[in-house]
Amino acid sequence: MDKQDNDHNWEELKYLSGFGNDFACEDVRCPDSLPEAQNSPQQCPYGLYAEQLSGTAFTCPRETNKRSWLYRILPSVLHEPFIPVKSDYITNKWDNEEPNPNQTRWKPFLIPDVQKEKKDFLEGLATLCGAGDTRCRHGASVYIYGCNSSMENKALCNADGDFLIVPQHGQLRVTTEFGRMLVKPEEICVIQQGMRFSIDVDQPSRGYILEVFDNHFVLPNLGPIGDISIALIFKHLTIYLFTEFFYPSLFFISSIHLLAWFEDRECEFTVIHKYQGSLFQSKQILCQIHIRRHVHCLGNCMSEFMGLITGKYEAKEEGFQPGGATLHSMMTPHGPDADCFEKAIVEELTPKRVAEGSLAFMFETSLSLALTKWSLSTCERVDKDYFKCWSSLKKHFTGLKIDDQKHS
Ligand SMILES: [Fe+2]
Repeated sequence: MDKQDNDHNWEELKYLSGFGNDFACEDVRCPDSLPEAQNSPQQCPYGLYAEQLSGTAFTCPRETNKRSWLYRILPSVLHEPFIPVKSDYITNKWDNEEPNPNQTRWKPFLIPDVQKEKKDFLEGLATLCGAGDTRCRHGASVYIYGCNSSMENKALCNADGDFLIVPQHGQLRVTTEFGRMLVKPEEICVIQQGMRFSIDVDQPSRGYILEVFDNHFVLPNLGPIGDISIALIFKHLTIYLFTEFFYPSLFFISSIHLLAWFEDRECEFTVIHKYQGSLFQSKQILCQIHIRRHVHCLGNCMSEFMGLITGKYEAKEEGFQPGGATLHSMMTPHGPDADCFEKAIVEELTPKRVAEGSLAFMFETSLSLALTKWSLSTCERVDKDYFKCWSSLKKHFTGLKIDDQKHS
């Protein structure tokens, strides 16, 4: 993929449909550049180099085997020796800070001012929290990015795992070896392990990233409505291969509003399960069957990282702002703040739309996520008063049942 080809209309990109499908594509300028009936002939058409990008071990069973074949003018092994580049804010050292089980909330993360400091996506990347070990291939990291410039003469290849990118402000023009994606706020994209990519931005931009080390992201199960549900692979779009000599199979871009969701009508939210994580979108459900407002408090055995793309989050209408985040670590109590609780326990139980105009997401993991120095202090975005949103919760217990209280 050549970034010089960038001057086409990104809004008119076409995407293939289907997550996990196999695709074959070749540049129209070089017809028949894809070898027929074999991956690596003695001589590839046009003198290209055959190169496999494997997504799983070679011997994985057919149903789990992931691989792509690319036909390149020059192979990717042609490079200078790697040299370390120091990054102040990207880390996978989880023991540098004291364990911190506190509920943590961050004010909106800062986007660097282009007048003061030019930062591209890679330079604006900082690790917020994480767990596990990239060498043992188990764990996850959460990053925040804040940037104001495009990556120039630069590409990123994540050898550790997959990236799930969630833009919150500003659209991303993502150029990969496999094609291009335009990813806007309220959409997400996945860039799999080992794929080189570069990101251009049109304006100051901010977002969240979940990186998983264990395995690739997978689609959620279809749920109780099964094969007529909307959790179907064709709802997931795959980038259109505009570029040369590729045979892709794994790549996709998914709009949140296109993703399929398991609908739990008691839960008010729809949930998509991913490997080592989940993402949910508050969804406009008109509850008609069993109305139950969720005002419970939680102490989960999982860690919950939440971000807000737009609007107000129902359980905390103030304080949790778009571009900010919260982390509730495993077994740390949390829940709706005092205002939301008091409102919810007396409001009329009628069908109503919830969380209208808002879009929140959660990365949920069974890992215990450790906070980094950047997240605790360097970014200067920790809301020190977060715990106070529960401090005015009052005692409603009088010894009488609620109905008895009404009649007394
Ligand atoms: Fe929670």
